Amino acid sequence: MHLLVLGGTVFLSRAVAAEAFARGHRVTCAARGVSGSVPEGATLVRVDRDAPNGLDPLAGQDFDAVVDVESMSVTRVRRALTALGAGVAHWTFVSTCSVYADNETPGQRAESASLLDPAADDADETDRALYGQLKVASENAVRAAVGDRAFLCRPGLIVGPGDRSDRFGYWPARLCAGGRFLAPGSPENWVQFIDVRDCAAWIVTAAEQGLVATLDAVCPPVRWGEWLAAMVRAVGSDAEPSWVPQEFLLEQGVTPWMGPGSLPLWLPMPEHGGFMTRDVAGSLAAGLHIRPLADTATASLAWEQQLGLDRERRTGITRDNEGELLSRYDEGVFRARIV
Ligand SMILES: NC(=O)c1ccc[n+]([C@@H]2O[C@H](COP(=O)([O-])OP(=O)(O)OC[C@H]3O[C@@H](n4cnc5c(N)ncnc54)[C@H](OP(=O)(O)O)[C@@H]3O)[C@@H](O)[C@H]2O)c1
Repeated sequence: MHLLVLGGTVFLSRAVAAEAFARGHRVTCAARGVSGSVPEGATLVRVDRDAPNGLDPLAGQDFDAVVDVESMSVTRVRRALTALGAGVAHWTFVSTCSVYADNETPGQRAESASLLDPAADDADETDRALYGQLKVASENAVRAAVGDRAFLCRPGLIVGPGDRSDRFGYWPARLCAGGRFLAPGSPENWVQFIDVRDCAAWIVTAAEQGLVATLDAVCPPVRWGEWLAAMVRAVGSDAEPSWVPQEFLLEQGVTPWMGPGSLPLWLPMPEHGGFMTRDVAGSLAAGLHIRPLADTATASLAWEQQLGLDRERRTGITRDNEGELLSRYDEGVFRARIV
């Protein structure tokens, strides 16, 4: 198969190109080539999707399948469909679990969950607050043009080698340092994510098999307690969790999910009870394969080590901050005991 990856210079789209080449396919990546390099074996065609005819350098080539990872711009998605949609047998559009309207109800399935309203045609395509709605509009554009041969792949948090968001990697980086660590909320809460290599493999399989579906790309939910314990085993340290209730963390100004001063992946409950508990039975039946957590943990740690464990992070708390929070929490527990 000749696969066209619209992207291919970073993270997921790069992993898709690498996986397709490893399986013996011919791979063309179309990007500006400013964010990184394409993987070994792939050919880069320089395009600029911001220009109305920016995909012209691809003219005259025949592709069997296209993978588009466009993040925000419905305009770019539409242009790609117009330029390339008619001639290809399969089209994957990488969407997101952020398209869902209800983040509170646990156990929802892609097949039946309600969606946000699509962004309006004149919406600001750079407004991050519209991310989910722009993706809904892009999904609709894909369905309208190539719905009979489209895979709409909705990843949750994508993690692993190549991740520059500093989110998931906070945990293996912190755990490998060992000792007592701050674990947010309850060990009974759920967490869910996808290893970039599993997502990439599924996308290539979907193109090979002509999968026509709209499905979530995340692992089955795992309890925070089990997840952290498995990661501690995988990184081989003596790290010990101290579970600190969400009320204390919120009171202390710790940010959920991501950003400086956050505890990555932690989400307050019950209002986010649906975000990390998606039912992926349909995805697993349609070819999604999830590797053992230990593999994701060790690969994420190796990537963190490559980035530098002591770097300033875009996401997560510092060790000093963690120590202060644990001391303040201990003090409160101690006072409550002697009252
Ligand atoms: N990260 C997550 O946790 C997460 C979760 C859910 C869904 N997603 C979705 O997963 C996808 C991630 O894709 P990704 O990992 O490949 O990262 P990405 O940053 O979305 O990749 C963008 C690709 O497009 C190219 N590009 C950017 N501007 C361009 C332009 N003007 N013209 C041509 N090419 C351009 C980039 O290469 P150049 O800059 O070199 O041109 C790069 O190869 C996105 O759709 C995202 O919404 C991500």
